[in-house]
Amino acid sequence: MYRKTDRTMLVLKNGNRNIIGASVGTEELGHLEMIGAIVYQLTKNLTEDEIKKAGFEDYFVDHTTGIYPQAAAGFPYTAASMQVKGDAITDLHEDMAAEQKARTTYDNILRFCDDYDVKDAIRFLREREVVHYQRFGENLRLLTDKLDSKNYYAFNPEFDKKCFKNQLKKK
Ligand SMILES: [Fe+2]
Repeated sequence: MYRKTDRTMLVLKNGNRNIIGASVGTEELGHLEMIGAIVYQLTKNLTEDEIKKAGFEDYFVDHTTGIYPQAAAGFPYTAASMQVKGDAITDLHEDMAAEQKARTTYDNILRFCDDYDVKDAIRFLREREVVHYQRFGENLRLLTDKLDSKNYYAFNPEFDKKCFKNQLKKK
């Protein structure tokens, strides 16, 4: 059904990508669930003294021990952090940067974490971000292989068909 319209994701139109946004998105939601479960398990039976000792008071005042999605520095999750430009080259670079930022965050957690079970889960999540980065990178290469190498970072392949190989010669 996606192939019937001209205004669809390039991923589906070309049909030769090894990854689609939905599968990575679904996995990332699974990661969110894993992190939420870890935080729940680490905080569910905290005493007031443990909350103070761990520096958990600010979070506790706002959310008790409920799972609230926020950055380590306290900035709450917002859909505004999800970027989409509608240009496959731009968006793939954004995706790759996001995967590397996630990998860096996991690396930083591993520097401080002393809980073996948590470290094991974080190492798994870190590995998946590396795989996602590689898959998005492969998709970027597959896309640029189809484009005219003289201009593929100067046009939006979603709309500017002249950036595909041989398109200039046909006109
Ligand atoms: Fe990822």
